[in-house]
Amino acid sequence: GAPVEVNIGNLEPGQIMRVVWRGQTIGIMRRSERMINDLPTLNEKLADPQSEVASQQPQYAQNVHRSIKPEYLVANIHCTHLGCIPQVLPEVEAQPFDAEWRGGFFCPCHRSRFDLAGRVYNGVPAQLNLVIPPYHFIDDNTVMIG
Ligand code: FES
Repeated sequence: GAPVEVNIGNLEPGQIMRVVWRGQTIGIMRRSERMINDLPTLNEKLADPQSEVASQQPQYAQNVHRSIKPEYLVANIHCTHLGCIPQVLPEVEAQPFDAEWRGGFFCPCHRSRFDLAGRVYNGVPAQLNLVIPPYHFIDDNTVMIG
């Protein structure tokens, strides 16, 4: 599959857009300041908070944000359990399953949950963080995926 160029100039904080690359749905989310600051507070609830499983992200995304720029998450959003597409808060209310839910990706198939860096929570069927695809920024408003 050819690389996909995406204009992110209209993304507002908290918004996500979806594009298809190599038959996979890639989500690009612009995280708000609160979302960014929440990430380190979730570590003890997560299966791989430091992104140590090397298959799940390029080296440049092996950091607390799992991204090149803290503000932007670029992730393959297929659930790492069986590939369903999770919903994104605030589109879904996940509090019935996690009273301390801070937002993220909620998989309707078997209730796996991921934070806003795509890190998987403990105790759900999925075991691996969402995959971060290869990508880079061409300029402030343009991401190239692939
Ligand atoms: Fe997402 Fe099973 S496919 S939890």
